Amino acid sequence: MKGGASVDCLNQSEVPSPSLVLSAGNVDMRARFAGLVSRSPPMAQLVAMAEQVAQVDATVLLRGESGAGKERIARLIHDLSPRAHGPFIAVNCGAISEALLESELFGHTRGAFTGAVQDRVGLFEAANGGTLLLDEVGEVSPGMQAKLLRVLQEREVRPVGETKSRPVDVRLLAATNRDLEARVELGAFRQDLYYRLKVVELRIPALRERTDDILPLAHLFLGEAALHAHRPAPELSPEASTLLGAHQWPGNVRELANAMERAAIMARGSRVEVEDLPEELRRRPSPILANHDPARSLAEIEKEAILASLARNGGNQTRAAAELQIGTATLYRKLKGYGLIADKVRRPPG
Ligand SMILES: Nc1ncnc2c1ncn2[C@@H]1O[C@H](COP(=O)(O)OP(=O)(O)O)[C@@H](O)[C@H]1O
Ligand SMILES: [Mg+2]
Repeated sequence: MKGGASVDCLNQSEVPSPSLVLSAGNVDMRARFAGLVSRSPPMAQLVAMAEQVAQVDATVLLRGESGAGKERIARLIHDLSPRAHGPFIAVNCGAISEALLESELFGHTRGAFTGAVQDRVGLFEAANGGTLLLDEVGEVSPGMQAKLLRVLQEREVRPVGETKSRPVDVRLLAATNRDLEARVELGAFRQDLYYRLKVVELRIPALRERTDDILPLAHLFLGEAALHAHRPAPELSPEASTLLGAHQWPGNVRELANAMERAAIMARGSRVEVEDLPEELRRRPSPILANHDPARSLAEIEKEAILASLARNGGNQTRAAAELQIGTATLYRKLKGYGLIADKVRRPPG
């Protein structure tokens, strides 16, 4: 079975339940997509591209806001690649000093510096035969940029304190939420390294740019939280669903996951109500209309107005429809078009 077919299969179900995945025919291929939501056209397209680039060893630069799913897509590329049976290692380049990052990535010999009490294998070597993700690559210092460039060119690493280089067979992925072009302009990021990293560039869209992924993700995370708590997964009330769709999600999928974990705890009974959602989803007016991008279609402006009204009205569709001076049936139809009405939620009367 081609990977694309299995993506489709999983997209059909609201929550890709683990039992479904395990009992399916192509266990291996399906497991790689398990729990990955790509209902929206931009995400479906991204997953298709990830499948394509997985087949070759090219360096891929993953771009997108924090929490949008860069690491998740990196993992998918690895899982779909011929290196799937090798290691996948992600290292956060932004969190540590240059000296530490160097010995972390390249390893060191015993006595190379104070505290180096024994030889240590670096992450490049640990990832041999597999994939290494350099996360937050935009934060890397100029000295380290030069060293990374050398690894990319020579395909070998030299541990700190070692005189000889060692070959490594690693597929490199890099991720950043920074405007790397601007950093190149400023002279803070090497242009040659930038071009080496972005042989293929994948942009992970922000969650607010793909509203049809919000409810499938919400159900997925509610299901996961419930599984941990050994409880049945709660439903989302129609008001709660529309509030989720109206939120801007500055923290993207990670923020939604946290909100659903909290909602699963707060929910009394089997339904998540508006009160169970984090306060920032209920506090309004929505900043959604603060988007002054002039190049918006009428449909986009309409969608923003509808979501802002729902947010102002606590997700109440009847009140939002009255405010917008449209019928509730029209509002319902629009929301369904945005993917913001779960199939099982019944249409409100009126
Ligand atoms: N499409 C998706 N389907 C399911 N879970 C996702 C998806 N994208 C991201 N996640 C989850 O959201 C969280 C944040 O994603 P992550 O890849 O760490 O984001 P980033 O690296 O861009 O900061 C992780 O727990 C990840 O598993
Ligand atoms: Mg990350």
